[in-house]
Amino acid sequence: MQKNKIIAIWGNPNSGKTTHAIKLAMELSKKKKNVILVLCDHITPSVSSALPLVDTKGQSLGELLSSAQITQESILGKCISVEKNDYLSVIGYLHGENERTYAKYSKERVVDLFILLKHLADYIVIDCSSLVSYDILTRTALELSDKVIRLISPDLKAISFYDSCLPMIAERKYNLQNHIKILYNVKSNMRKDHVANRYGGITLELPFSAEIETQYFEGALFDRLTSKDSQGYLNTVEEVLALIVEEAQSTPKAKGRTKLNILFKRFKSKGDEISE
Ligand SMILES: Nc1ncnc2c1ncn2[C@@H]1O[C@H](COP(=O)(O)OP(=O)(O)O)[C@@H](O)[C@H]1O
Ligand SMILES: [Mg+2]
Repeated sequence: MQKNKIIAIWGNPNSGKTTHAIKLAMELSKKKKNVILVLCDHITPSVSSALPLVDTKGQSLGELLSSAQITQESILGKCISVEKNDYLSVIGYLHGENERTYAKYSKERVVDLFILLKHLADYIVIDCSSLVSYDILTRTALELSDKVIRLISPDLKAISFYDSCLPMIAERKYNLQNHIKILYNVKSNMRKDHVANRYGGITLELPFSAEIETQYFEGALFDRLTSKDSQGYLNTVEEVLALIVEEAQSTPKAKGRTKLNILFKRFKSKGDEISE
């Protein structure tokens, strides 16, 4: 059984969770791995800001979680394709939705979703919400993910967030000691050591990239990074992948798994089988 299939990205508000989840999912898909990116945040749904031109009508994660039953077919129906990328698709809350848009769902429903997602893709990347106490999807992702990447801003506000939040997920099942802790956006005048000492075991620092900032403003985070200025960021993403992905560098071809876009085509043509 492949290890580290479900990767959760969690952290304090504005720590770069969504950005990093998108970039990590893209780098995995570049290695010809099928990836489903789950965008959990229903307070500021990010599908419309990351894929502003895509028609997403009827493709809400909220609707899926509230439906009577989840199946592989119903998941595929909610997956949003990413242009020019056969290996990546996205599922999330849609523009204008909030936690009251759909009926409440249980933890069991989230568990069902994760089990089925595992059968559909090589990797599931989960962009968590910061708010563990309100969001059962995020809490369950933190519990069941094979790896959790915790992004930390190197400032006092992040310390305040973690000191309030970590006690809520202190139970053993959340495996806090196994989080890969990454400082984001370190600047020379920040008290980086103060934060690092407090939370111990900081693994990496994720550099700032002006190109990412521009992509963010232009709603183009799914575009590739091409500027020299992003190389440091991309190198760090590779280091993250080396920590979590088996045979990270060495799989030119995905073996035995149908590309996600082919699954969608089969799903859309009535009567076809979805599973291999
Ligand atoms: N590596 C990076 N370089 C430059 N800006 C970044 C980077 N990562 C995130 N950002 C910026 O940080 C802000 C918050 O990012 P976002 O991914 O929305 O965080 P979160 O999901 O944690 O709220 C955005 O303005 C985004 O452009
Ligand atoms: Mg976010």
